[in-house]
Amino acid sequence: MATAAAHRPARADGTAADATAYEAVFDAAVAADERIEPRDWMPDAYRATLVRQIAQHAHSEIIGMQPEANWITRAPSLRRKAILMAKVQDEAGHGLYLYGAAETLGTSRDELLDKLHTGRQKYSSIFNYPTLTWADVGAIGWLVDGAAITNQVPLCRCSYGPYARAMVRICKEESFHQRQGYELLLALSRGTPEQHAMAQDAVNRWWWPSLMMFGPPDDESAHSAQSMAWKIKRHSNDELRQRFVDICVPQAQSLGLTLPDPDLKWNEERGHHDFGPIDWTEFWEVLKGNGPCNEQRLTQRKQAHEEGAWVREAAAAYAAKHNGGTGAQHA
Ligand code: 3HC
Repeated sequence: MATAAAHRPARADGTAADATAYEAVFDAAVAADERIEPRDWMPDAYRATLVRQIAQHAHSEIIGMQPEANWITRAPSLRRKAILMAKVQDEAGHGLYLYGAAETLGTSRDELLDKLHTGRQKYSSIFNYPTLTWADVGAIGWLVDGAAITNQVPLCRCSYGPYARAMVRICKEESFHQRQGYELLLALSRGTPEQHAMAQDAVNRWWWPSLMMFGPPDDESAHSAQSMAWKIKRHSNDELRQRFVDICVPQAQSLGLTLPDPDLKWNEERGHHDFGPIDWTEFWEVLKGNGPCNEQRLTQRKQAHEEGAWVREAAAAYAAKHNGGTGAQHA
């Protein structure tokens, strides 16, 4: 039997009748769980939603390099330093895959970076918190990367092909990140009383912001319903948050650490853990730019971009010389 994609014309010519017919083909492809590819017709709002989400995701990856890079020079051993450097480089790579995926939707990386630098696009709230001790590197790996995986594994089945494919590789690397964070915290937890206390303190500070990473509660999530109908998102913010809590509770026990929530308890009836209220005022304040590190993160990002101008210029000159290329190169 022919699939919706088999009937999918390359492009609409812009007439109203065409738009209806093309929309029907698009809807059928989404309903049949087929991938939408860059040259397929898609509703403008679907394209805009993807650009918004993928850009925010890409920005999160590259801004997310900062809190951990802060500890590279002070890693306690050569092994830990090598692991941390590899992890931070992975995040840069994730940013590149994601900017590439956004480019397939007709936006340039320059445009997206400009929107980040001028505050017109967001990055994840989580990266506006400081990394105060070495244990924070472990807490980020275990909790932040753990939350990212919980959110991102379903994105491997996103209806937009280039985003879904980028997520497959990203998730594999994030799994390694999560494991290294867990292993780091385990070493601290089983170490001296001071090391154990440092691990516990880091978990205390990163737990609630990690739960906020999943976004506002479902009844305040502006985009979830439409994004789920388009199969960009496969689960709601609250569903994924609950899944994450359920995963973390036994892992915390194995680590010998406590999650800082007195209301956390197993609910037999629901088959899930109940947890205490999240401070959504803090979340919205961080989104407005009032988190502990918002200003520092953006200032450093802009500075890095300016200082990298010569690399972009050199790459563009090299491409023009060797390929006769005209396209701008990005560093
Ligand atoms: N931080 C910042 N902004 C957030 C947010 C968060 N944690 N959660 C939600 N928001 C914003 C949304 O962008 C939206 O704002 P906008 O309308 O101005 O764009 C608003 O809050 C309302 O939220 P919605 O629930 O309606 O938004 P979404 O449907 O887009 O859902 C999301 C939010 C679950 C984060 C979704 O966008 C998503 O799954 N994104 C892909 C994953 C991602 O971006 N992850 C970043 C995490 S960090 C990371 O991956 C790096 C790794 O190394 C740890």
